[in-house]
Amino acid sequence: MSATDTSGSAKTVRAFPEGFVWGAATAAYQIEGAATADGRGPSVWDTFSHTPGKVRGGDTGDIACDFYNRSEEDLDLMKSLGLAAFRFSISWSRIQPTGSGAINQAGIDFYRRLVDGLREREIAPAITLFHWDLPQGLEDAGGWANRDTAERFADYAQIMAEAIGSDCDDWMTLNEPQVVANQGYRLGIHAPGVTDDAIAAATTHHLLLAHGLATQRLRSALPAAKLGLALNLNVVKAADSFAEAAAVVADAEQNRIFMDPILHGSYPAAARPHMLPPESLIEDGDMDLISTPLDFIGINYYAPFYLKRADGVVSTDRRTPTGGGDVVPFMPPHLPTTAMGWLIEPQGLYEMLKIVTSELPDKQSGCRLYITENGCAAEDYVDPNGVVNDVERISYLKGHLDAIWRAIQDGVPLDGYFQWSLLDNFEWAYGYQKRFGVVFVDFGTQKRTIKQSARVYQQIATTNELPHEWAGEGAGLIAGAV
Ligand code: FCB
Repeated sequence: MSATDTSGSAKTVRAFPEGFVWGAATAAYQIEGAATADGRGPSVWDTFSHTPGKVRGGDTGDIACDFYNRSEEDLDLMKSLGLAAFRFSISWSRIQPTGSGAINQAGIDFYRRLVDGLREREIAPAITLFHWDLPQGLEDAGGWANRDTAERFADYAQIMAEAIGSDCDDWMTLNEPQVVANQGYRLGIHAPGVTDDAIAAATTHHLLLAHGLATQRLRSALPAAKLGLALNLNVVKAADSFAEAAAVVADAEQNRIFMDPILHGSYPAAARPHMLPPESLIEDGDMDLISTPLDFIGINYYAPFYLKRADGVVSTDRRTPTGGGDVVPFMPPHLPTTAMGWLIEPQGLYEMLKIVTSELPDKQSGCRLYITENGCAAEDYVDPNGVVNDVERISYLKGHLDAIWRAIQDGVPLDGYFQWSLLDNFEWAYGYQKRFGVVFVDFGTQKRTIKQSARVYQQIATTNELPHEWAGEGAGLIAGAV
């Protein structure tokens, strides 16, 4: 859409639909700290981070951003940044210290205060019930390999629905279950550090079941709420024709292993058998429950994966799925990377949005999409003027917001975008070394410094359109910025 301003110079307006939600996302263990305060029980991430050698630098989430004690000032910060929504997760072991049984009222009170504080500031809460921090008590009883954990999760969902009620409209059951199953139980690089294919496959099914059971409970407790979950989705591409078959398998194992059961009620046929739960674990009615209609699918998008023929090269990258083919991850030389070493390709986000939209089945008609996470790590620092000039993140934002704007023009039912993350935080196995925030955190003093990217994001959130100076460059990245 083009318009001419009153001075007569041409400008391009790229506005978002009215009511489009501009938010920021976080997760409990990554920001809250206060690990033992007010009756909180340990989670698998407390145990894992306190195990030598598991997290870079021996970092733990004991203090993190101290959000538990600083939420009032961080709420003011969010307000000053013009955010319309805040996605955060609940620490299950604050609510039920061992994951089942008696409720810890102090935990409920913290999240009540948080929700009230958001609403007073007209920021919509968006709750994730599980962002990886399983209570250690449940892990000790078999963790996600135990079907009972799914039932315990449904009980916990019910407790939160009753505690928060209609003061929150948007609820997500799980965050990135694929990462839990794969990184946590197959590769052992995330908590709880298990390396067992059979346990990972059982985890896959029980996480999905937990989602279905909790959705059912939330739906009956909160009929007007919007229910969904956040899936990590990466487009998987073959860089040569040899890698095409492996890319299909890798896509099934990376994306469809969770997306297909949710959308279609079936596991992807292309995934290898050891990745899938055995029939013996799938009880009658499970797949119907798992594919229960949702109000939205949340997409966490960071990067595409490329595969190419191995040609004798052995890769040490365990994160990129290869589908078991004789292929290796490939980094196209024309694509920049982030401080995580992840490829930057906004077009991948556009493509993923189109794929999910085209696959929404009749059963999920009316299901909308959110980007529940998108962002990048950069080597940010406070410069001598006290400024964090994170041009890399602004460039990343520019490319990806251009991609979602185009996707909306092309019919994608996208209702909102959540920047990952509000604050620099505990980046799991990378500890505090990787900074994803639009707000810089000095972890020694807990001082917050608003980065330049947050200023750009604030302008977008308050005008509901992309900066005019971004027009005309397509999805390109700011030259020299990455
Ligand atoms: C996602 C996680 C989130 C954060 C970002 C960088 O996979 O959901 O907690 O670590 O990656």
